[in-house]
Amino acid sequence: MYATPLAPANPLQGRSFLEPADLSTDELGGILRLAHELKAGVAPSARTLLRGRTLALLFEKPSLRTRVSFEVAITTLGGEALFAAGNEMLVGTRESPEDAARVLSRYVDAIVVRTHAHEPLERFARAASIPVINGLSARAHPCQALADILTIEERFGSVAGLRVVYLGDGRNNVAHSLAQAVVMLGGSMRFATPLSHRPSQAMLAHLAKLGAGRGGEARAFTDPIRALRGADVVYTDVWTSMGDEHLHERNSAMLLPYAVTQASFTYAASHAIFMHCLPAHRGQEVAAGVIDGTRSLVFDQAENRLHAQKALLLALMTDGKGTTL
Ligand code: CP
Ligand code: NVA
Repeated sequence: MYATPLAPANPLQGRSFLEPADLSTDELGGILRLAHELKAGVAPSARTLLRGRTLALLFEKPSLRTRVSFEVAITTLGGEALFAAGNEMLVGTRESPEDAARVLSRYVDAIVVRTHAHEPLERFARAASIPVINGLSARAHPCQALADILTIEERFGSVAGLRVVYLGDGRNNVAHSLAQAVVMLGGSMRFATPLSHRPSQAMLAHLAKLGAGRGGEARAFTDPIRALRGADVVYTDVWTSMGDEHLHERNSAMLLPYAVTQASFTYAASHAIFMHCLPAHRGQEVAAGVIDGTRSLVFDQAENRLHAQKALLLALMTDGKGTTL
């Protein structure tokens, strides 16, 4: 049982989670706190909290971490996972996202979806009567962001006041979700990208709004060295995301100056950590000496997917009793 008192009701129960900004800062903080507690093993009763519940995983793209960590998470909380892979589940060729969501809502208790465009996922979530979790879309990878923040908090205690620098494709899912979570928690998010890969003006304006009043801010740079100076966290992701393979050559040429090398990493603070959501390409977006070096936390990040998602499932699928939600 947890040391802190139980909340009378869990406002997250039944909700969907498509990106970090779907949550209030307090809700995000509550999930993270529970994730820390689950990782510390102070919740023996959690083993049965999802007994008899089924989590469906609908994946239109490959996955190692997201699939396995969700399957282990639901199983260790007493429930069951059902995995379905396909290419056309949400694109509307057989049926609309709305019909698919209504049908699945009658079979299972929550759904994790990994898909291409974000908009059909939003339609799917709106029509579902059960929680829908974004397991990665073109716009967002919110479960990765939960694990990223958990990892940063483990190292630094809090994200507030930290400088998080993301190099590479600033328009991708991982960059967007990390940035939302960082500014919501009062951190400073810096993007180092060519103009072609800078987050959209709409996204930068959204991040400014999200961070306002909490000390959070987002800034975009084209010079990677200027962006890296004083960084507490240095983060990168693949240069070409799944589904964008036709852009690989162009991206590789344009993003080369933004590779995290042993030389560029020296511009970060002396205590800086390196992060990457994985899978990684050594010798492209990051040098082997950095990702395999002592300052790299990439495997803690990968482990933290499991703890963060256990907390998320409890938040969305239970009334919060027996947890600190
Ligand atoms: N980081 C991540 O989401 O990994 P997978 O694509 O293997 O799930
Ligand atoms: N941006 C990457 C993340 C993989 C976990 C992709 O979408 O392929």
